Amino acid sequence: MIKEKILVIGASGQIGVELTLALRKIYGNANVVASDLREENELLKGTGPYVSLDVMNKEMLHVQVIRQNVTQIYLLAAILSATGEKNPNLAWSLNMQSLLNVLDIAKEEKIHKVYWPSSIAVFGPTSPKKNCPQQTVIEPITVYGISKYAGEFWCNYYHQRWGLDVRSIRYPGLISYKSAPGGGTTDYAVEIFHEALEEKSYECFLEPDTYLPMMYMPDAIKATLELMEAPEEKIKIRTSYNISGMSFSPKEIAAEIKKHIPEFTISYKPDYRQQIANSWPQSIDDSVARNDWGWKEDYDLPAMTKDMFENL
Ligand code: NAD
Ligand code: SER
Repeated sequence: MIKEKILVIGASGQIGVELTLALRKIYGNANVVASDLREENELLKGTGPYVSLDVMNKEMLHVQVIRQNVTQIYLLAAILSATGEKNPNLAWSLNMQSLLNVLDIAKEEKIHKVYWPSSIAVFGPTSPKKNCPQQTVIEPITVYGISKYAGEFWCNYYHQRWGLDVRSIRYPGLISYKSAPGGGTTDYAVEIFHEALEEKSYECFLEPDTYLPMMYMPDAIKATLELMEAPEEKIKIRTSYNISGMSFSPKEIAAEIKKHIPEFTISYKPDYRQQIANSWPQSIDDSVARNDWGWKEDYDLPAMTKDMFENL
């Protein structure tokens, strides 16, 4: 069996911290190198190797891949939807160039597998709102969505043309308690828990009935690991897989939180993120992922809410 050495880029972010810890459990601490532009996350300290790395610096990235004998790369560095709208050029540049740098080096160094996440943000106002299918009309209106959609086709291109084993998931909005979210439209669903505990109230930047596809972080980590471990012949989609966990609105999550904190109140002050949320589907059809590699989520809204309060 080949000894795998994994490089996680963007390891100090919301997904990176938990994914790095999960990968270290499977492959051994020394075999998973965490890297990020910012300092090492507190939860990663002492659990394995960390290198400071700017993924935009292709030469430095290449040096690290060779020096560390890397066999798999997980690329998580990106600018998310809400932050992306504040600086579209930067979002496009980071989200695209980081991927092209990784794909190029992976091809050159014969990296076994590459993981790069896409997002439900690829969908736009013309995509079906309910149970949005794997293949459908895709016309994103955010720079983040455009970069993810273009990225999906680059992944597919490197697979078709050079046989690179690159795999991807369109994550829904992710809810977690270990590391903070990094500037997305779905971040309200994390903030609401912290404010409920600290202030017993929350002012939401989305309207009460804004339904969005969401997922609890343990499910997102499970999906990522299962996709990456699936036999190659089962991976039929080389752009990116739809996956679904749950769908809820601010009003619904507030009602669920009230079951744990009866005095909790929510108010609404929609901002620019409302338009982004309105452009996305409310729920996702993930039957292709279920059929191809057996995806199934563990958490619904009540189970996730209970677990969040037990851990926060
Ligand atoms: P995040 O913002 O929390 O983390 C991204 C990390 O990348 C940060 O730690 C940041 O410092 C790092 N980074 C930024 N620029 C870098 C650079 N030039 N070089 C190296 N590192 C750099 O994001 P996240 O929520 O963990 O998202 C990870 C991936 O998953 C992204 O591709 C994102 O688009 C995707 N995704 C996330 C969600 C979600 O809800 N969190 C949903 C869909 C898709
Ligand atoms: N959670 C992400 C965002 O809101 C979706 O990709 O940007």
